[in-house]
Amino acid sequence: MTENGPAERGRSLVVRTVSELRERRAAIRRAEHRVGVVPTMGALHEGHLALIRAAAEENDEVVVSIFVNPTQFNDAADLDAYPRTEDRDVELAQAAGATLLFVPSAAEMYPAGFATSVHVGGVSERWEGATRGASHFDGVALVVTKLLVSVGADTAYFGQKDAQQVAVVRRLAADLNLPTTITALPTVRDVDGLALSSRNARLGTGDRETALSLSRSLQRARDLVAAGERDTARLEAEARRILQDAGAAIEYWAIVDPATFEPLAEVVAGALGIVAARVGPVRLIDNAPLA
Ligand code: PAF
Repeated sequence: MTENGPAERGRSLVVRTVSELRERRAAIRRAEHRVGVVPTMGALHEGHLALIRAAAEENDEVVVSIFVNPTQFNDAADLDAYPRTEDRDVELAQAAGATLLFVPSAAEMYPAGFATSVHVGGVSERWEGATRGASHFDGVALVVTKLLVSVGADTAYFGQKDAQQVAVVRRLAADLNLPTTITALPTVRDVDGLALSSRNARLGTGDRETALSLSRSLQRARDLVAAGERDTARLEAEARRILQDAGAAIEYWAIVDPATFEPLAEVVAGALGIVAARVGPVRLIDNAPLA
């Protein structure tokens, strides 16, 4: 971060329209500042703040978007229940190093007559794509494309916790020749190993131990791989047993290629263990590199 901070001092920290965003972006470009963007849906936690801090280390300006994107929800109740904590988020983001917040309305992002879709084939089809519905990654791809094009950042920062989302975004940025580098930062975990997520707040008191079975199953797979096991079926069976014994309802546990998310028969360098499970009413995901 330069000592000068935002390119234009005295201007508002929060902008709500694409035209205001572009105006601010033009000023930043004139100042030849490096720009990082951190796309979020708000309800910021330490995982998001780590992304903002990293962006602030590497850039002069950090744009944080806060937009609960309706097109990536296939369940209206889930969209309604999504926490909206804008005032707190703005404060936290600024304290972590954000220099501009883009907080558009749904009508700003999807005005009447909006008719364009972005579909990333292949990598978006399985796992999260299959369990959350095909429209989920279409919604993510659409909003991320709009954000990347509108902000024109040098680098965009995403959390590796949503590993398949990262792979989808990398694919679309490459396919559409977007000039933004996609950076994924490691999952931030609580001391007991639980991956941070805004959903964790909804875990009941007895559910935490069950929720920990996700990270434990990944760690067990890592240990087995370190001890020489390479057979995916055996690793998956062992990992599933840990989740089942803990009482988690497994949606998937798989070992995949980290770029294509195609399942692997054998663990090879870069292989990623991925898991989704329900703990009571809460759907959790996690992943870890196995080799
Ligand atoms: O990971 C998220 O919070 C969202 O999927 C994203 C990338 C902000 C797009 O709405």
